[in-house]
Amino acid sequence: METLIPIINRLQEVFLTLGAEIIQLPQIVVVGSQSSGKSSVLESLVGRDFLPRGSGIVTRRPLVLQLVNVPPLEERRKQDNGNGAKQNAQNNYPGIKAEEWGTFLHCKNQIFTDFSEIRKEIEEETAGSTNNKGISPEPIYLKIYSPNVLSLTLVDLPGITKVPVGDQPEDIEAQVQKMILSYISNPNSLILCVSPANSDLATSDALKLAREVDPDGRRTLLVVSKLDLMDAGTDALEVLLGRVIPVRLGIIGVVNRSQHDLNTQKSLADSCKDEQAFLQRYYPSLASRCGSRYLARTLSRLLMHHIRDCLPELKTRVTVLTAQYQSRLNSYGQPVEDHSATLLQIVTKFASDYCNTIEGTARHIQTSELCGGARICY
Ligand code: GDP
Ligand code: NA
Ligand code: MG
Repeated sequence: METLIPIINRLQEVFLTLGAEIIQLPQIVVVGSQSSGKSSVLESLVGRDFLPRGSGIVTRRPLVLQLVNVPPLEERRKQDNGNGAKQNAQNNYPGIKAEEWGTFLHCKNQIFTDFSEIRKEIEEETAGSTNNKGISPEPIYLKIYSPNVLSLTLVDLPGITKVPVGDQPEDIEAQVQKMILSYISNPNSLILCVSPANSDLATSDALKLAREVDPDGRRTLLVVSKLDLMDAGTDALEVLLGRVIPVRLGIIGVVNRSQHDLNTQKSLADSCKDEQAFLQRYYPSLASRCGSRYLARTLSRLLMHHIRDCLPELKTRVTVLTAQYQSRLNSYGQPVEDHSATLLQIVTKFASDYCNTIEGTARHIQTSELCGGARICY
């Protein structure tokens, strides 16, 4: 995801300069049965520990997590200390002395710089609004600001469950399904189905729900979790190769932290290292196409495709604006520097950055068409 950050920031600037809507990245929604590892997968994508996880029903309200890319602290400091009010106005987050921080909609003015406090707040807010093991469709809105994230939205949802426990209503299954459908039926949602390797994929409720709203599988990705927990003598090879159920956007196996790892506070970095070692050992032929890091890269690639689809609109804007300025310039009758050329450079640079960033997909985009088409306009 890191390689995408500068490119997207730059493109957002261009869009703003042109007065266009900024690029809306798709929101990523995790769907799966209870304790399949949804919250763990999201955490590894964000790279920070901050979500409540554990056995049983832990996530009981939707968590809409908006990631916001901000300049690094040092840069923001400079803007704060800079000469005069004009500079100050550039820093949208004045006075915040942290590199990364979070805020909740339900307590807007409180700034969380300690990520374990964020988890505690989610837990308290969940407990305060639901009774014993009950669920609520009322989302918790959390924003995380960081120089290390892409500006996009992730949604963590309660797991699909069949049998009511605690004070859960009889129709708990229907309630959760309705809640999930309300998020994944949004055509701008990427559906991340999480199914544990130690249960039958054919019975995956996540895939079943995804299929209802995305029958062609254009925006559904399958994550097979708990590769480490399979019965002796079985493995997930057939599943990972797509021979059991094919998934168009891909099937990615991962190993997240176990409950014991959570209890002993194993770090995400260590977990990622061990995951790689596990994959090398048990799935050598697939190791390079599995794991949390590969999942993050796959999502980056999907986001790139989405952005690529937004580029024609950007090109049209540049063309129209250029024509407008050109005719105005002509009416003045004086030669003036052509600023639109800079915009063209940025768009072209994007196309080549895109090729460099994502190997293998380069052949799918028509860079030549993009650049050539634009050149005709000038
Ligand atoms: P959720 O209910 O789907 O959000 O699942 P959680 O992320 O809360 O995880 C549920 C439990 O499964 C926790 O105890 C995790 O430690 C454990 N868990 C999740 N993924 C894995 C995995 O890949 N391997 C192992 N061994 N445990 C996992
Ligand atoms: Na759980
Ligand atoms: Mg969860």
